[in-house]
Amino acid sequence: MQSVTLPQGNRMPVFGLGTWRMGEHGDQFDHEVELIRAAIDMGITLLDTAEMYGEGGAEEVIGAAIDGRREGLYLVSKFFPHNASRNGVMEACDRSLRRMQCDYIDLYMLHWPGSVPLEQTFEALQALRDGGKIRDYGVSNFNLADLEKVPTEYQAQLGCNQVFYNLAHREVEWEVSAWCQQRGIPLMAYSPLDQASKLLHDPVLGEIAARHEVTAAQVALAWLLRQPNTVVIPKTTQQHRLRENLGALEVTLDDDDLARLDAAFPPPDAPTRLGMR
Ligand SMILES: NC(=O)c1ccc[n+]([C@@H]2O[C@H](COP(=O)([O-])OP(=O)(O)OC[C@H]3O[C@@H](n4cnc5c(N)ncnc54)[C@H](OP(=O)(O)O)[C@@H]3O)[C@@H](O)[C@H]2O)c1
Repeated sequence: MQSVTLPQGNRMPVFGLGTWRMGEHGDQFDHEVELIRAAIDMGITLLDTAEMYGEGGAEEVIGAAIDGRREGLYLVSKFFPHNASRNGVMEACDRSLRRMQCDYIDLYMLHWPGSVPLEQTFEALQALRDGGKIRDYGVSNFNLADLEKVPTEYQAQLGCNQVFYNLAHREVEWEVSAWCQQRGIPLMAYSPLDQASKLLHDPVLGEIAARHEVTAAQVALAWLLRQPNTVVIPKTTQQHRLRENLGALEVTLDDDDLARLDAAFPPPDAPTRLGMR
């Protein structure tokens, strides 16, 4: 699995599994555990979750799935903005670690901007890193103004900005990508398939997929993966789609494909608000 290097030197795989909406229904628990185990068996080692997902339920699914297999995995979790105070972050992290039955998180992020002063949040994140409970910290859903509010001493240490990014939603390309790329901060593209919306039925995407003998989902993911310092975390509940999505790593789009995709899904050409799901 290819990886990107975070500003502090740790490496993160470029492909992971999202877990939003897992851990919400008890009758799905065993299926979700099996799915995560299948993903790990296929080499998908990055698991993206959050305390919000299933109110901790998704982290519990991960805990059950990885039981005894922590080594070699890359665990990403996020805390609520209302837990972003110094003590709030510390306590939220302990709860996440307990639910995932592990003793450190690779990348821990503020889920979206809130009202707690960021000095407090980053002091706590730094203390967690110094204490070994997290390896890196980052943010999610941060637009340029939000990024610039991160205290200067922490800006260069941000491990990631996890953002809503796919072919149909390129708002991040207005200023945010450049700010992150200039500092070597990876972008983690969430909802990379636009939540299986009409994007996957787009005729241009379909033609390009047919030409490469791959699927529309694989083209959508390959389009993101071709960009430097970019990670994707598609979610699926179906094992055959794990393999399909992972196959995007083998798809190389040529200049003609990229030009057609740019024409069908143009990048923003004026100030644009960062999208959010
Ligand atoms: N930071 C944030 O605020 C934030 C917000 C949203 C999401 N996220 C993270 O990003 C992850 C991914 O985003 P997402 O779950 O919103 O959306 P997504 O990954 O773009 O799309 C997931 C949907 O696509 C379907 N799907 C997956 N692979 C497919 C394929 N090959 N062909 C057709 N359909 C396919 C899935 O259905 P099946 O299950 O039936 O395959 C599911 O309905 C989340 O799970 C979460 O971890 C973060």
